[in-house]
Amino acid sequence: MVVVGTQWGDEGKGKAVDWLTDHAQGVVRFQGGHNAGHTLVIEGVKIALQLIPSGVMREGLACYIGNGVVVDPVHLLAEIERLEAMGVSVRQRLFISESCPLILPFHVALDKARETLRETSGAGKIGTTGKGIGPAYEDKVARRALRVQDLKHPERFAKRLRELLELHNVVLTDYLHAEPLAFEPIFEQAMQVAEQVKPMLADVGYLLHLAQRGGANILFEGAQGTLLDIDHGTYPYVTSSNCVAGNAAAGSGVGPQMLHYILGITKAYTTRVGAGPFPTELAMDVPGTVGHHLSTVGQERGTVTGRPRRCGWFDAALLKRSVIINGLSGLCITKLDVLDGLPEIKVCVGYELHGKRVDILPLDADDIAACTPIYESFPGWEGSTFGATQWDALPLNAKRYLERLQELIGAPIAMVSTGPDRVHTIVLRHPYAA
Ligand code: IMP
Repeated sequence: MVVVGTQWGDEGKGKAVDWLTDHAQGVVRFQGGHNAGHTLVIEGVKIALQLIPSGVMREGLACYIGNGVVVDPVHLLAEIERLEAMGVSVRQRLFISESCPLILPFHVALDKARETLRETSGAGKIGTTGKGIGPAYEDKVARRALRVQDLKHPERFAKRLRELLELHNVVLTDYLHAEPLAFEPIFEQAMQVAEQVKPMLADVGYLLHLAQRGGANILFEGAQGTLLDIDHGTYPYVTSSNCVAGNAAAGSGVGPQMLHYILGITKAYTTRVGAGPFPTELAMDVPGTVGHHLSTVGQERGTVTGRPRRCGWFDAALLKRSVIINGLSGLCITKLDVLDGLPEIKVCVGYELHGKRVDILPLDADDIAACTPIYESFPGWEGSTFGATQWDALPLNAKRYLERLQELIGAPIAMVSTGPDRVHTIVLRHPYAA
């Protein structure tokens, strides 16, 4: 099973993964890093995860961090300690691929200094999370990254760190007009955390192969969303990894035949954090408007950065692109309850672009920015859908809205999430029964 975000992230993947891992024996992160923010609510207690797979709240479940993930070891340990303080055991069942590239302090410095330069030069910020994600992936593809496995070899680590830091300090000072970083504190901190990280290092691809041969259900947990994918997203306003389902295999070291069911997590409206085109975006400042309603009722603030998320109507033409790229088997619609009380609900079914009608999200970010959405309108519903656990308990207009979304998107709805807790879930077609 692969779980991916179908929009711009923050669709509620964490809850879906936590819910589905009831049926799984292992859960794998395969891309991104601690730029992700997955919020779970279990029996009223809120838990925010960034790097550790959302299945960790299921006792005894094996958790894997695949080679496609960029790992900040200092953040990793802080997250583990936070979970341990809540009584959740992590170290004995967390397996980290030796091949993960490391995020080190100069990646964070580069990320922040680049954003500043983009802003002052007039190029415009990407609106990154400032966690060093992009620069860490750059080092990976440039074949000069320090990887988790280097933590096992202090001399090799020191040599490569010295070379890498020399390069990045030139960029930081001469090009980005930022402060250089010193070798010693980075090296010492890395060696300190190395002692704690080393026992968790593993050959993740091989372990997954063995687990599957032993009959285990493995769940691959995507981070960010399809439109933030480095290749398929609204480039350059994207993250630096492939967030789409196909990368679950390459990012964890297994064959694609292991991916049987792709579940796309889809918010009942649309949000985006950071810059970039967003055709159905609504103004959010004025109380009484739909944008303000979605932002406040939906509590749309970034889990990692605390930034307000931009909000807008559901975009079925965007989802169409997402269904194709991911090969979605089914959908989980989330945050339906946020639409409760709206007198009218709109869905974008296509765009007008340079005088022509298009029915799928264009590929070029400038074209997307030039799109005028074409909307279909639905009457809202009375009463609350919050916490509903049965399809029949939904108001008629809510059912009609969901049925029309399914028709427009071209993929079946498997689940509907009606609130943040595990129990706030309607199951129409259980993904594990497929
Ligand atoms: P980066 O991943 O920090 O480089 O940020 C690049 C873009 O991806 C920015 O627009 C971020 O706001 C966005 N982004 C990164 N991670 C997430 C996430 O987990 N949810 C939503 N947006 C994200």
